[in-house]
Amino acid sequence: MREEAIAKVAVIDLGGQYAHLIARRIREQGVYAELYYPWEADEAVSESSAIVLSGGPSSVWESRHDTVVEKALALDKPILGICYGHQLLAKVLGGTVGPSPSPEFGPTLVEVLRAESILQGFPSRIKVWMSHNDAVLEPPEASKVLARSEGSPVAAFSLNDRIFGVQWHPEVHHSELGIELIDNWLRIAKIPREWRPGDLIQDLIDYVRGTVGDSIALSAVSGGVDSTVATVIAHRALGDRLHAVIIDHGFHPAGEVKRAVKVLRELGINLKVIDASGDFYAALEGVEDPEEKRRVFGGVYARILEREAKQVGAEYLIQGTIYPDVIESGGRKGADKIKSHHNVAGLPKRFGLRLVEPLRLFYKDEVRVIGEKLGIPEEVLYKQPVPGPALAIRVEGRITPELVEIARKANRIVAEEVEKRGLARQLWQYFAVVTRSRATGVKGDKRAYGIVIAVRIVESRDAMTANPYRAEWGLLEAIASRITSEIPEATRVVYDITSKPPGTIEWE
Ligand code: XMP
Repeated sequence: MREEAIAKVAVIDLGGQYAHLIARRIREQGVYAELYYPWEADEAVSESSAIVLSGGPSSVWESRHDTVVEKALALDKPILGICYGHQLLAKVLGGTVGPSPSPEFGPTLVEVLRAESILQGFPSRIKVWMSHNDAVLEPPEASKVLARSEGSPVAAFSLNDRIFGVQWHPEVHHSELGIELIDNWLRIAKIPREWRPGDLIQDLIDYVRGTVGDSIALSAVSGGVDSTVATVIAHRALGDRLHAVIIDHGFHPAGEVKRAVKVLRELGINLKVIDASGDFYAALEGVEDPEEKRRVFGGVYARILEREAKQVGAEYLIQGTIYPDVIESGGRKGADKIKSHHNVAGLPKRFGLRLVEPLRLFYKDEVRVIGEKLGIPEEVLYKQPVPGPALAIRVEGRITPELVEIARKANRIVAEEVEKRGLARQLWQYFAVVTRSRATGVKGDKRAYGIVIAVRIVESRDAMTANPYRAEWGLLEAIASRITSEIPEATRVVYDITSKPPGTIEWE
C-alpha cells in the first residue's frame, strides 16, 4: 500500500497507556504514524522520518530502554520524547533525572519559559496533564529549557531543533494546546502532511487486486462498519470474483442481518445469507467460559467459511480488521493477548484461507472517512460496534436460545431508547447483558424470581479506554420500565458504572 512510500512517524510504545493516542493525534495532523514495540526499534528508526518515544511505567534507572534511544539518536532523525520518553532522552543525553521535588498527577500548571519551537505561540502559563514521580532536574548540555513546573524543573527542552522532550502528555484532551504542540513538532521536523485516508481508496483497491490476483475471494460481512467498508473495497477490486456472505449465527441483534443485506444490495453487492445458527448452538452447548465461547465461536465460524470457500473456489478471505484490533489481539509479535477477538486471533491456526485485511492500518474514524467516500450510508458508518460473537457474549455463562432471545429483546430496547433521544452518535456502545444473577420481583400480583439484566452505556474514542455514560435518569427509567414489562422473565435492571480500565466494555 502507498503508506510504505509516504512519510511516517514511528511511535515507540514504551508501555504507556496513551501510545495509541499519540499515533492518532499525529494522523489527525495529516501524517501517517505507526506504533512499534521497543524490540522493534531498529525497524522503527530505519523505516520512519521521525520518532516519538512514548510514556511508560518504567523508571529510567532500570535503563532497559537506553539502547532504543541510542538507536534513535544514531540516525539523527527528529525525536520527541513524551513523559517517560522525555526523561529517557534527557538521561541518555547527559541530563540529570531524579525523584521529582513534587510528583505531579493530573492537571498541572506549566510555566512556558520560551514560547518557541514546539511551544511556539504558547501563552506564559498552560494547564496540562502530568503523571510522573521522576523528573528531569538538569537539562542535557547545550539544550534549551522551554518550560518548567513545580515538580518538573525541566518540563520541556529542545536540543539543536532536532530533539525535544516534554514531561506532560500533549496527546490527551486534558492538556491545553496539545494538538498545537504536536503540530509545531511536525512542522519543525519538516514532515510532509501526506496522510489522507479518504484519498487512499484506489490504493486499497489496487492492494486487494494485487494480493488476490486472478483468484476468488470470500468476504464475511458482520453488519458493522469495518467489514462493510472492506467488502465494498474488495468488490470494487474484484467484481464478480468477490463472494460476499453474512453468516447468520443466531446471535445477531434484532434486524442486523436484514439491514446488512439491504445496504449491500443498494451498493450493488449481492450478499448471501448462510443460516448456520444450528451449528453454533450445537457447538456452544454447555460452554461457560467467555474465552472458550470465543474460541468455539471462532472455530465454527472458520469452518463455515472454509466450507463456503470450497464451494465457490475461493482461496482468500477479506477481513475488516482495523489497527486497534491488530494491537489489542496481540497481532504484533510479542504483544500480550487481551481478548481473542474472533476477527483476528480467534481464527484457528490452521485456517485454509489466506487473509486479506485492507483496513489493518486504519483507525475507526479513518475507516469512516473511507466509507463515506465509498457511499456507505451513515446508519452503518456510525452504527455502534457489535462484538464478533454478538449476543453469545451478552448472555453470561451458558447460552440457550431462550436466554439469547431475552438478550436480543433487551438490547433492542436499550438501542431504541438511546437512539430515539438522539444520543447514538455521542456514545460508543449501549447494550444489555443477561446476567447470571437472579432476583425476586413482583410480576402481576405474584412474586417472581427472575433474571437481572445489566445495562451498559459507554463513551469512548477507540475502545482502548471507556467511561460509563452519565445517563439522564429518565433514559434509565424508561429502559428499566420497558425491560421489566416487555420481558416477562426479567425482574431487575441494573446500570453498570465501571470504567475501562479496570473493567472492559463487554461483560465477557
Ligand atoms: P472490551 O470488552 O475488550 O471491548 O473492552 C473492546 C471493544 O471490542 C469489542 N469486542 C469484540 N469484538 N470480537 C469482536 O469482534 C470479540 O470477541 C469482542 N469482544 C469485545 C467490544 O464490543 C468493544 O467495542
